[in-house]
Parts: sequence; C-alpha cells; structure tokens
Amino acid sequence: MPAPPIDARSQNAHVLGVEPCGEDGVLLRIKPLEPADPLRAGRFFMLRSLDDTAPSIPRPFSVYRQYDDGSIEFLIKVMGPGTRALAGSPPGTELVCVGPLGNGFPEFEADVPRVMVAGGIGSAPFYMAIQQALEGSHGAKVEPEDLTLIYGGRQAGFLYDLEAFMELGVRVLAATDDGSVGFHGNVLDCLRKQWDAGNLPETVHLLTCGPEPMMEAVAHEAAAKNLKCWVSLETYMGCGVGICNGCSLVTRPDGPLGAWPVAKACVDGPVFSTSAIEF
Ligand SMILES: Cc1cc2nc3c(=O)[nH]c(=O)nc-3n(C[C@H](O)[C@H](O)[C@H](O)COP(=O)(O)OP(=O)(O)OC[C@H]3O[C@@H](n4cnc5c(N)ncnc54)[C@H](O)[C@@H]3O)c2cc1C
Ligand code: FES
Repeated sequence: MPAPPIDARSQNAHVLGVEPCGEDGVLLRIKPLEPADPLRAGRFFMLRSLDDTAPSIPRPFSVYRQYDDGSIEFLIKVMGPGTRALAGSPPGTELVCVGPLGNGFPEFEADVPRVMVAGGIGSAPFYMAIQQALEGSHGAKVEPEDLTLIYGGRQAGFLYDLEAFMELGVRVLAATDDGSVGFHGNVLDCLRKQWDAGNLPETVHLLTCGPEPMMEAVAHEAAAKNLKCWVSLETYMGCGVGICNGCSLVTRPDGPLGAWPVAKACVDGPVFSTSAIEF
C-alpha cells in the first residue's frame, strides 16, 4: 500500500506575506521551521491557519514556488473558510504545515514537446514544472520552444499571475470565455486551433490541471489522438496522508494501478497518468 512520502512532516510555519493576485486569489509565502529539500513540481502541502475562525481540517495546496531562503509560495483562490483564513493571515501568523506530500510530475521522456493545459487556479503546479523543465533539474532539460502553456479562465481576472508565467520565456497562450484576454473560447478549442494551424507538433505530452470537466476533456482529446497525458487532481482531501479515504478515485482495470480498484489522490497522486484512472 502506498504510504506518505518519507520527507513529509507536520510542523509549524509562519507567514512571510500575502499579496492579492487576480480577481479572488492571493500569493501566500510561508517559512516552515525546517526547510524542505528541493521539491518536485506537482507536490503539495496541507495548510491550516491557527486562527480560531479557520476549519480544523487543513487544506491542500500545490507548491507554486520554492525559494533559496527555505520559504515556499502558494497561489491560492479564495473559496471558503480555509482559504479565507489563509488569505487573511498577517505576516508572522503561525500555520500548521504538513508536507511535502504527493508524488509530483514524473520524469518525462526527453525530446517530446510538452503542452500544459491549465484552468484558473489549476496553473499553480505548472510554474515550477516549467522552471524545472527549463533547468533540467528533475528530468531532461527542455528547450523553451518545446514548452507550451495554454492557460484558460472565465475572464482576465481568473488568469492568476499570468505575467509571471509569460516571463518564464516559454510559449504562453491565454484563453478566456469572454475574450477579455487572448483566445476567445476554452482551452481545448485553443489547443485544437494550435494543431490545426500547425503551431504544435502532432506528438506532444499533455499535462493538465484545473476544473474536472476540463481535465476530462483534455484526457479524451489525448486518448483520441493517442497521446500520453497526465492530470494533477484537486480532489477533496481530509488528511493528505492516506488514512481518511476522502480522496479515493476509481482506477482503470487495464491501467498501471489496475491491481487495486481504487487509488488515493494524496498518496498515489495527485499526478496520475490518464491511463491509470477513470474520471
Ligand atoms: C493536491 C491539491 C492541490 C491543490 N492546489 C491548490 C492550489 O495550488 N491553489 C488553490 O487555490 N487550490 C488548490 N487546491 C484546492 C484547495 O485545496 C481547495 O480550494 C480548498 O481546500 C478550499 O478550502 P476552503 O475551506 O476555502 O473552501 P471549502 O469550504 O472547503 O469549499 C468552498 C467551496 O469550494 C468547493 N470546493 C472545495 N474544494 C474543492 C475542490 N478540490 N474541487 C472542487 N470544488 C471544491 C466546495 O464544494 C465549496 O463549494 C488543491 C487541491 C488539491 C487536492
Ligand atoms: S486525503 Fe485522506 S486518504 Fe487521501
């Protein structure tokens, strides 16, 4: 049975700062008491404010950026009580911080261009995924022209920290439902248009994170084109360490996890090959 990662620990951290980001998001930078080793993109922490108004169950967040001083930054969409408490934390606030958790993105084959398809706050794991691909720090080094981020949202304010993604120097294509920025339409239509226009090679690796219907659509497109695809899931989580079964999902009997009928997003994922799971 999968277990929590050996480098995970529960400890306190303090807030270094919170900056607004986009229409309803924040960038939360924290410093855990003990710094983590360099983290693979796609891993996550469970965070809980010690504020009395915050829920007692910590909430999961992908690592957005990791800094040399040991601090870690999260890109957070304010949704309910847990995220509201974190977003309202002044510098110095103590947090409970459990992690690093999860597997992160695998080492991809070299020489296959990667297309990341993000919806809204689903962009969070891709900042470090792009940085690490450019550096070759967790797998093969990839040239900037072989990395594309298609980043969609309802409107401009839901494309969180878009400028920062653009500054990474890879191809970033924005798409909005209302046409306020970039392509007028959804990420899948934007992706198809790139293929139709010959702007993307036919063989790419697809990585996706965002609302479930979007990820499912990307996974279906990948299956139709016989492309490899990975999803970074944002399921509900209670414990983050494999105990509560709050994050269970159905595996595909013919896939690499098929020996078990269910997998747990927290310890088996949150990154899965779409050949492994059912939506
Ligand atoms: C591995 C992982 C990584 C994540 N990374 C990020 C991240 O980087 N940034 C970020 O902003 N969020 C991320 N999330 C989602 C985040 O954990 C939830 O938004 C958060 O738990 C909401 O807590 P809350 O107390 O504010 O809201 P709640 O009161 O728990 O929920 C508020 C509303 O949002 C809905 N909701 C809550 N969680 C989810 C969910 N996972 N999927 C769909 N609807 C949901 C609820 O049904 C409710 O309607 C991640 C989730 C996982 C599992
Ligand atoms: S969140 Fe508890 S088992 Fe995965």
